[in-house]
Amino acid sequence: MNTLIETLEQTQTLPDADLLALITDEREDVRLELSRRADRVRRQWYGADVYVRGLIEFTNYCKNDCFYCGIRRSNCKAERYRLTAEQILDCCDLGWELGYRTFVLQGGEDPWWTDEKVCALVRRIKTAHPDCAVTLSIGEKPRESYAAYRAAGADRYLLRHETANEVHYRYLHPEPLSCANRKRCLRDLKELGFQVGAGFMVGAPGQKPEHLLEDLRFLQELQPDMIGIGPFLPHNDTPFRDEAPGSFLLTLRLLSILRLMFPRVLLPATTALGTIHPLGRELGMQAGANVVMPNLSPVDVREKYKLYENKICTGDEAAQCRSCLERRMERVGYRVVVDRGDVKKIQEK
Ligand code: 5AD
Ligand code: FES
Repeated sequence: MNTLIETLEQTQTLPDADLLALITDEREDVRLELSRRADRVRRQWYGADVYVRGLIEFTNYCKNDCFYCGIRRSNCKAERYRLTAEQILDCCDLGWELGYRTFVLQGGEDPWWTDEKVCALVRRIKTAHPDCAVTLSIGEKPRESYAAYRAAGADRYLLRHETANEVHYRYLHPEPLSCANRKRCLRDLKELGFQVGAGFMVGAPGQKPEHLLEDLRFLQELQPDMIGIGPFLPHNDTPFRDEAPGSFLLTLRLLSILRLMFPRVLLPATTALGTIHPLGRELGMQAGANVVMPNLSPVDVREKYKLYENKICTGDEAAQCRSCLERRMERVGYRVVVDRGDVKKIQEK
């Protein structure tokens, strides 16, 4: 274990072979040491603070057909819904009362939501809650669309790259999606001044450790402000229904490695992590995460935004979800704060 631990000091500059060795090392003492070091780095920048984002899943219509995703176009069993602008604004009002200062509008790639409609919605939210950040997570768009969202006041954009490897990308996504366009989107978003979130699923079908290495190298090149990772979880009405879920412990190790490689990054303990293990989000925090994204969507639509089986929190009111998470975080030594939760810049340390 010793030589590996010595290399941890230089996680940001580790050569490929050493980084790969770290990713694939399954020893429990190595994982715990990674976790301890990641937590130390996270506390240097963010103390015990946990940032919360109110997640509003506002449409499950999607024109894409990603093989892993429960709301893919070909899944005719998915019951489709769209929230109205009024419903979304009500979610934000409730969220503000509950202490959220970031709203994440997440949806499938839904052509009904034209750029005009998205921009009008963003403007209304920013007018009603000027002290809040608005994050969009609505997929691949032309650069002009992203520019319009930014001009309307959107602050952040989440778009997981899913995998940095072209061949693996094709294994997970049918055409017309492409790895090259996904990367183009992320670069455009950065250039337009969004705080950008990328990320990938751990244990996605066909994923090799070498792909994870490529993911880390791509992230080093992109330097995103946020990195979302969670285990792959199969959905019964997708072509990947019989695939094995991703590894919980590998996800924890990767969270720690990400914290060490990107000390200031915003790193959520995701819903998928909380789904694969009852204490997933707590252990995720202890492994270096500093963000959680409780659900703010109206309870009657939550079951319908099902990307994978057994998703947690579908039956809980927003207020319950919020206090539940607050308690969960406190139990493991962290504190949910009322804050926009922007990424820390170097001078703010
Ligand atoms: N299991 C885990 N994560 C999934 N996502 C989509 N489908 C699944 C699944 N079956 C993730 C993708 C996407 C994010 C919104 O959810 O990484 O970018
Ligand atoms: Fe939603 Fe616990 S976080 S109920």
